Amino acid sequence: METKIFKATKDDLNILKEASELLNSGKLVAFPTETVYGLGANAYDSEACKSIFSAKGRPSDNPLIVHVSKPEDAENIAYTCPLYYELAKAFMPGPLTVILPKKDIIPSEVTAGLDTVAIRCPKNEVANKLIEVSGIPIAAPSANSSGKPSPTSAKHVYDDLNGKIPMILDGGDSEFGVESTVITIKDDVITILRPGSVTPKMLEGVSKKVQIASAVKEELKAGEKALSPGMKYKHYAPKASLYLIDDTYINFIEFVKEKQKTENCGVMCYDEEISSFENKNLLPVGEEKNIKKQTKKLFNLLRKADDIGVDTVYAHLPKDDGESLAIYNRMIRACAHRVIGGKNGED
Ligand code: TXA
Ligand code: MG
Repeated sequence: METKIFKATKDDLNILKEASELLNSGKLVAFPTETVYGLGANAYDSEACKSIFSAKGRPSDNPLIVHVSKPEDAENIAYTCPLYYELAKAFMPGPLTVILPKKDIIPSEVTAGLDTVAIRCPKNEVANKLIEVSGIPIAAPSANSSGKPSPTSAKHVYDDLNGKIPMILDGGDSEFGVESTVITIKDDVITILRPGSVTPKMLEGVSKKVQIASAVKEELKAGEKALSPGMKYKHYAPKASLYLIDDTYINFIEFVKEKQKTENCGVMCYDEEISSFENKNLLPVGEEKNIKKQTKKLFNLLRKADDIGVDTVYAHLPKDDGESLAIYNRMIRACAHRVIGGKNGED
């Protein structure tokens, strides 16, 4: 199958109509969102949704997020509640996904047999207009091959899915660069299953009771059931082995400089540290304090590590709170919890 890429804005109605015709005839279309690129199918069409899993090589027990163009369109597919609308008022359209009890109209392939469905209303204008023009809710996971870092550009999607899908809409680089914050709600308690650009503190503006699922920071224990099936898979991983260094900046620099002498390694360093290293395979993440920029660059850098062909990558262990929690969660899983700690940088 030939994969066509079209540059698109919300005003390119002819292109959006062509995409919508593909979706309405059971085909897949990749599209930009403000978080990462999505691989969309008609959420009412179980066969189309099944083909998402085969194109990505995704395990069938990992449910999909359903995208709507207006928060109230969730009524067609889920049982909402007052807290959902309070969250919608604060964060939709935007990078928040809310899990709600599903209505029967959503096929079980979308929800991997769960009785809940994940709802997201994207802010990206191309995504939002595409859903509106299509007139259907769109089921879409991230448009990467399963296990690879999520795509933050049309090129990333093409690299992973060329020949497997008919169309990619290119809306430029993703604004945020990590996937949406996924939450469940029960009475007035919000539980974060996957951290994103809507932070715990921002959610506390809507409900004082915000908790973080343990799998966000820790490995699932043997036999423990994941609240969100996606959390049990190794994810976001480059081919190179990623190690996170839990140490002072001085020790980080010393440790990595030694490794550079003998290893074919990439270095995810802060911009301020660039001049401290041998200028080889550096993958600067942005200024130390600029978490937004680091978030935006994260997946691109993990893909770049593979493009330049390093065997190992060393990076700082990110902070595990506030805006940085989303980076921590992605990095800790990309490195399969390989953290090198201790004041002298030993294993
Ligand atoms: O930003 C995003 O959320 C992107 C864009 C395209 O919208 N989508 C995305 O989808 O990241 P995906 O499939 O890569 O991640 C969806 C996550 C998975 O961890 C999945 O297990 C979880 O949401 N999820 C989906 N439905 C769920 C449900 N009913 N209950 C619990 N977790 C669910
Ligand atoms: Mg994904």
